[in-house]
Amino acid sequence: MPIYKNYIGGKWVNSKTGKTFPSINPANEKVIGRFQLSDSRDVDAAVRAAEKAFKQWSETPPPARGKILLNIANILRKEKQRLGKLVTTEMGKVLKEGLGDAQEAIDIFEYMAGEGRRLFGRTTTSELKNKSCFSIRIPVGIVGVITPWNFPIAIPAWKMSAALITGNTIVSKPSSDTPLCAVELVKIMEEAGVPKGVVNLVTGSADNVGTPIVKHRKIDCISFTGSRSTGEFIAKEAGLKKVGLELGGKNAIIVMDDADIDLAVEGILWGAFGTTGQRCTACSRVIVHRKIKKVLERKLLSRVRKLRLGDGLSKKTDVGPLINKAALEKSRKYAALGKREGKLLCGGSAVPGKGFFFQPTIFTNVKPRSKIAQEEIFGPILSITPVKNFDEAIKVANSVEYGLSSSIYTNNIANAFKAMQKIEAGITYINSSTIGAEAHLPFGGVKGSGHTREAGWTGIEEFSHEKVIYVDYSGKLQKAQGID
Ligand code: UN1
Repeated sequence: MPIYKNYIGGKWVNSKTGKTFPSINPANEKVIGRFQLSDSRDVDAAVRAAEKAFKQWSETPPPARGKILLNIANILRKEKQRLGKLVTTEMGKVLKEGLGDAQEAIDIFEYMAGEGRRLFGRTTTSELKNKSCFSIRIPVGIVGVITPWNFPIAIPAWKMSAALITGNTIVSKPSSDTPLCAVELVKIMEEAGVPKGVVNLVTGSADNVGTPIVKHRKIDCISFTGSRSTGEFIAKEAGLKKVGLELGGKNAIIVMDDADIDLAVEGILWGAFGTTGQRCTACSRVIVHRKIKKVLERKLLSRVRKLRLGDGLSKKTDVGPLINKAALEKSRKYAALGKREGKLLCGGSAVPGKGFFFQPTIFTNVKPRSKIAQEEIFGPILSITPVKNFDEAIKVANSVEYGLSSSIYTNNIANAFKAMQKIEAGITYINSSTIGAEAHLPFGGVKGSGHTREAGWTGIEEFSHEKVIYVDYSGKLQKAQGID
């Protein structure tokens, strides 16, 4: 059984604890490798390495940093098939989505490489003569990157590419469900020429690695994607650090009576059961105009019944397993609840045998205030709520504590534009599903989904400060605010 190490100061090293933990293939429960069960001593060592590397890296011209990022993108592209398979093996999503995960990492490294030649500041005017005012981008310092398992290559890549191009050094803790993907990504970064100590990787538990990162006095910024409760913990414990939070979702697709129903069915299937419902952007609610409810349900059901569960590496599989036993139990719990809160249309049970499989499940006639329509499930469970008109659809869409992604299917242009304004979310799709955000646009939510915008041009803002420069070339002391 291969034992993988932490990466600290450019060396692959064992944890001070001498202990390891397994990573498991969720499709067959086989162990694929063992990883360092680290603690705060390993985090300290990683922070020291990041501190040491900071001066040289932050003083490297951004276009030179960009060249290294482009190397990373090029190696990722060469290795895409291997990485896609690895994502499927360790995380469970079907192979074409595993390849998509790797592609999203390629896209963001390419994009951020180009940012090395931009990193724009602003210039503006001064109140005074012979004085110039402008801003430049400076790094935040040492960044703690804490990432989930559902996009085990793409999300670390979103965060690390932006943190690197802006000149920060990194201490990163991947999810304990997908440490191998993180190790392989870091190996590629090493091969691409990221200098020693600039990226450090420490595997282990939330309590013994995550919390020490969040509380570390020398870490200046935390970028986290994961659950709302952990996000709230980080917001409380991070002190004065700059904190980026990408939390959960309870994303709805609205289907109006003037929509192309077949198109909506495609979008619902992809949004609700793609990645087995394990995206923070997944569609877990359909809000449908009551006039078309029956036909939408009929069309949806005939498609869902044909979805094949199985190992994501098999070409025949449409829906892979859930990530682990706890996730399976959570889906089981919500399905039991759903049987009381709505009418079961299909699915509703775990699949016996090896692997963490749960049937694609749909409930209808679900009241907007019920638990399955309010709480994030992160599994293949969808609830349908009928409404009488557009205004009620928007009200129901906004009746949750989350606000990440959203969608409306309509051919009424006025309602489409109203939805863009009125839906409380960081992302609204028109006539398309809730998932599939692109790397060069800002990504993030409102309300309980967090308030950060990462990737795209806002990725730069997450990991840098805008520093202001005043240059006075009048040759005398000039005072602002009209002071004589
Ligand atoms: C997530 O689930 O945390 O928009 C991110 C999407 C993907 C990213 C999802 N590009 O569905």
